[in-house]
Amino acid sequence: DTNESSSLRTPIVAVLGHVDHGKTTLLDKIRGSAVTEGEAGAITQHIGSTAVPLSVIGEMAGDLVDPTDFDLPGLLFIDTPGHHSFSTLRSRGGALADIAIVVVDVTDGFQPQTEEALDILKRTQTPFIVAANKVDTIPGWNPNDDQPIQASKDRQPDRVQSDLDERLYELIGHLSDEGFSADFYWRVQNFQNNIGVVPLSALTGEGVPDLLTVLMGLSQRYLKEEMAIDVAGPGAGTVLEVTDERGFGTTIDAVVYDGTIRADDQIVVGGLEEPIVTEVRALLQPRPLAEIRTEKEFEKVDSVAAAAGVKIAAPDLDDAMAGAPVRVVRDRPVEEVIAEVEAELAAVEVQTEEEGIVVKADTLGSLEAISSTLADEEIPIMRAEVGDVAPRDIRVAETANEPTHRAILAFGVDILDDAVALADQEDVGIFEHDVIYQLIEDYSEHVTAIEE
Ligand code: GTP
Ligand code: MG
Repeated sequence: DTNESSSLRTPIVAVLGHVDHGKTTLLDKIRGSAVTEGEAGAITQHIGSTAVPLSVIGEMAGDLVDPTDFDLPGLLFIDTPGHHSFSTLRSRGGALADIAIVVVDVTDGFQPQTEEALDILKRTQTPFIVAANKVDTIPGWNPNDDQPIQASKDRQPDRVQSDLDERLYELIGHLSDEGFSADFYWRVQNFQNNIGVVPLSALTGEGVPDLLTVLMGLSQRYLKEEMAIDVAGPGAGTVLEVTDERGFGTTIDAVVYDGTIRADDQIVVGGLEEPIVTEVRALLQPRPLAEIRTEKEFEKVDSVAAAAGVKIAAPDLDDAMAGAPVRVVRDRPVEEVIAEVEAELAAVEVQTEEEGIVVKADTLGSLEAISSTLADEEIPIMRAEVGDVAPRDIRVAETANEPTHRAILAFGVDILDDAVALADQEDVGIFEHDVIYQLIEDYSEHVTAIEE
């Protein structure tokens, strides 16, 4: 493992954007496989991660990159399906993603999930670039597979070039409305103050060399200090998902962002009730360049160094929470590590009252984002939890005194069938939406209807 010897870790890159705008196709292009084709209906079902070593990035970027200019080991890309909320995941109070790519379809333009991604990136102050995707769909476009975008653009008829420019200016205008100063990436001098827009096609690959070059350059220039870690130290990570894995029971998919986790480590994981103290039974890692969620044959490894996605098998993980911290104990007193995990969970601010609505969300981060939006709207919360909507949630919601409070807001979670039946019976409203502000808008409309 190249990370082992280096003291600079791989930057974590979140790929965000509206449904169908091309996040998975872009990663596919980068890793040269065809995950999209294997996916049911081309919809990504789960969060996955892909490590791309510097050598591969160098190959793809061609003349645009000289790998000897870089000493970061590569990039770790995290795909986010439309209905998930990776952008809200944290590490020690900050954002888990070091950097982000916001993918926008040049024809579709800004959509609700694009706006939501921008809101979260703004709140967490995460640097990002915009991939203006699907340039090949512009009428009259002649593809130049895998070429740098300026060369390909220059070869298009004038009419096609100005069509592209128009669409890009529209994106730049939108970004400016959201408070970001943006420009074509080749005009950006300082990526800390300006958002670079990279026109590309995830399908034909044109512009992908530019995207990788800008990402590596940005990481190298602005993240290098943050990437300096004690790689051999006790590992720290964030739970992405809690899943059942045949032969292993309940496992957690985690992103390790600091230190190393070993196959014989004791770990502390944030749980629904209290921190879980357990021993690692197996560390399962996808092979390099493979997708954690689609790779059926996991490889057992002895250790995993930051930054990496890893599946951790261990006893007692049933109550583990997506978005919660994972910490290796190693040479420290276990109480100290438990306190660390508790402190981090306490920092997730969710204000609950005696009377109010119930909120269920897919991760701690999304729970926090919803709660803060509800607080702004002065909507009280009686209970807020990570997890699917179950009958016991209906039992809680039906105790609300105000009819408008007999409601459950569900974000990125399943609603169990018996919960639906019980909600009908007890007249509890269940609201669900993939976009936080629309979820709250749906609920507010319901309140207005009751009050009228
Ligand atoms: P979700 O995971 O559902 O949020 O979608 P996504 O953003 O991952 O989109 P995905 O990569 O699955 O792409 C959606 C559709 O757009 C697929 O049919 C892709 O083939 C197509 N597509 C993606 N990128 C491009 C592109 O650059 N050009 C063209 N022509 N089609 C593209
Ligand atoms: Mg996808």
